[in-house]
Amino acid sequence: MHHDIEKILLTEEQIQAKVAELGAILKEEYKDKNPIVVGVLKGVVIFYADMIRAMDIPCQMDFMCVSSYKGTQSGGKPVISKDLSNDIRGRHVLILEDIFDTGNSLEFIVDYLKIRQPASLKICTLLDKPERRKPGVTVKADWTGFVIPNEFVVGYGLDFNEGYRNLPYVGILKPELYA
Ligand code: IMP
Ligand code: MG
Repeated sequence: MHHDIEKILLTEEQIQAKVAELGAILKEEYKDKNPIVVGVLKGVVIFYADMIRAMDIPCQMDFMCVSSYKGTQSGGKPVISKDLSNDIRGRHVLILEDIFDTGNSLEFIVDYLKIRQPASLKICTLLDKPERRKPGVTVKADWTGFVIPNEFVVGYGLDFNEGYRNLPYVGILKPELYA
């Protein structure tokens, strides 16, 4: 285990089992739909690569980068720093996210993509921290990997100041590192 990690919350095996389970569900849901799978950068990259292979169906890859997060504190209005490269009008769109936290980013992305009139728009998130949800956020994930407690986590794509993304597990960072 990395020395900055206090505790492993989700092991590599637990994550891979969940990816296989979600992949089988989404394969069934999207098998004849050639969906555009939208990844929200950068935290989703590892989950994304595993999920599209677990789904194992024809699909198109696309990415958005939306940021409003500095250090461990979510703040301010989300800003798009990379937009989609495909036209999603009339297409089935599946958003993949690393974590559903305050809900700021997902709510913003859903509103933004709905205007472009996709045939359907659904969300799959690896992690959900419901205790952190901002009041007034109405968007919900259609599929959730794990509901986790209100702790700052890193690994499997999730970062703290851009570090720890390539850990194969999800761990709780030692609080003294960001307090
Ligand atoms: P939001 O607060 O739901 O808008 O989440 C915005 C983004 O914050 C997520 O997509 C993550 O990149 C990041 N984030 C939220 N919680 C954590 C965490 O516990 N560890 C690392 N990144 C996080
Ligand atoms: Mg992040």
